[in-house]
Amino acid sequence: MRELSPSVLSADFSVLGKEIQTVAEAGAGMLHLDVMDGDFVPNISFGAPVIASVRKVTQAVFDVHLMVREPARYLEDFKKAGADLISVHYEACEDAGGTLKKIRELGCKAGLAINPDTPVSVVKPYMELVDMILVMSVYPGFGGQKFIETSLEKLAEAKALAEACGRGDLLIEVDGGIGVSNIRQACEAGANVLVAGSAVFRGDAAQNVKELLSLMKTA
Ligand code: DX5
Ligand code: ZN
Repeated sequence: MRELSPSVLSADFSVLGKEIQTVAEAGAGMLHLDVMDGDFVPNISFGAPVIASVRKVTQAVFDVHLMVREPARYLEDFKKAGADLISVHYEACEDAGGTLKKIRELGCKAGLAINPDTPVSVVKPYMELVDMILVMSVYPGFGGQKFIETSLEKLAEAKALAEACGRGDLLIEVDGGIGVSNIRQACEAGANVLVAGSAVFRGDAAQNVKELLSLMKTA
């Protein structure tokens, strides 16, 4: 089972609720919400109040990607805003294990994200605490960047690690530069949650979702 998780970073924020309904109705089961703090990454996006506000317009699974230094400080806020799954960066946490535990205690699924320069092996000590590994396939901070090809090897490594730990159920998410030209390759490498921002929201979002979903099915 694979899921498409459109990243609203590339949506038209003046009609955000409508954009979200469009992609959900076209078949996207998840929604990727990129929170950036201007410190861990060189950009600021939006926070919990925006997420709480769009929670009212859809039943889609809210996949919240925190690109925030010391995210443990804000987990309750994102839970209250309606997050179902919260991912934090390995590089941004003083205590990644404690942070992941706290996410689960709040009743959310926990994801551990790794930057392009961080090896998959850092996730190993946390395998019992994670529901998802998020492999960044661009340097976090901006939408519309080019996919880093070596991420395919990291996806394969993440899948092998999951299987070696008896975690065939683990979600493996790829985020950054995904589109029609590489979504099948990413699936075949091991990703089962596919984030796409500009490939969804540039142009006809409903049509783009359908096309990406059909490519995911044939992989
Ligand atoms: C990058 C974000 C991504 C981004 C994806 O920092 O985490 O989720 O919005 O956008 P595209 O698909 O355009 O690379
Ligand atoms: Zn993201």
